[in-house]
Amino acid sequence: MSAVHLQDVRVWHRSDGRERTVVREAALTVKAGETFGLVGPSGCGKSSLLRVLAGLHREWSGEICLLGQTLLPGRRFEAGLRGKVQMVFQDPYASLHPRHRIGRALREPLLLAGEKRPDARVAELLAAVDLPAAVADRYPHQLSGGQRQRVAIAAALSLRPSLLLLDEPTSALDMSVQAGILNLLNRLKTEYDMTLLLVSHDADVIAHMCNRAVTLRDGHLEGVIGTGGDG
Ligand SMILES: Nc1ncnc2c1ncn2[C@@H]1O[C@H](COP(=O)(O)OP(=O)(O)O)[C@@H](O)[C@H]1O
Ligand SMILES: [Mg+2]
Repeated sequence: MSAVHLQDVRVWHRSDGRERTVVREAALTVKAGETFGLVGPSGCGKSSLLRVLAGLHREWSGEICLLGQTLLPGRRFEAGLRGKVQMVFQDPYASLHPRHRIGRALREPLLLAGEKRPDARVAELLAAVDLPAAVADRYPHQLSGGQRQRVAIAAALSLRPSLLLLDEPTSALDMSVQAGILNLLNRLKTEYDMTLLLVSHDADVIAHMCNRAVTLRDGHLEGVIGTGGDG
């Protein structure tokens, strides 16, 4: 089974009453267990496409199949897919409430999902991303950028996803912490048996992480290439 399958996908935005297509005729298959890269110049539509795959942007047409389930344009994800597909954003601040402690941020989705031992799971999640348990009592601004991104990754893992969508997860971070986050993602990919779809504008990151990659240019996905990465 493929993790991601796109056929003739178009994605658009509406602003000032006008429709603007950012991705057109996109076709792509990402195999289960693969780390697949998506590259392309700024503003070419990488985030828009990823947001469609995360169920966050519903203005699209064509065929999309995720983890064997067909998405319907304009509709929310079906319950079975929610949690199975998670996204990590470039700026971890954006996904963390500034006045909620980390423990609360991690606990809330677990409680919504009916988790019986939320505190134990929060501790497990922090350990999974190599953060000390005491981080649960801190606020986002009390962490470093790299620590905040680890928290965002922990949050994404909380419902045990099979597909992790990574939107430039290290580009807001210092060079010195980037490698640590990438290595963490590689380890978690194996531990959680996930497929990764990684957006980056950094060819070194793609080469280090990905089995294959594709370029998005002028709204089109160009030929898939093997990158020689470890995956
Ligand atoms: N919510 C939105 N409303 C209108 N236009 C948008 C919206 N989000 C992105 N865009 C536009 O869509 C294009 C692609 O943006 P984006 O997907 O963020 O590109 P990338 O991630 O490759 O930099 C850009 O021209 C951007 O301005
Ligand atoms: Mg982007």
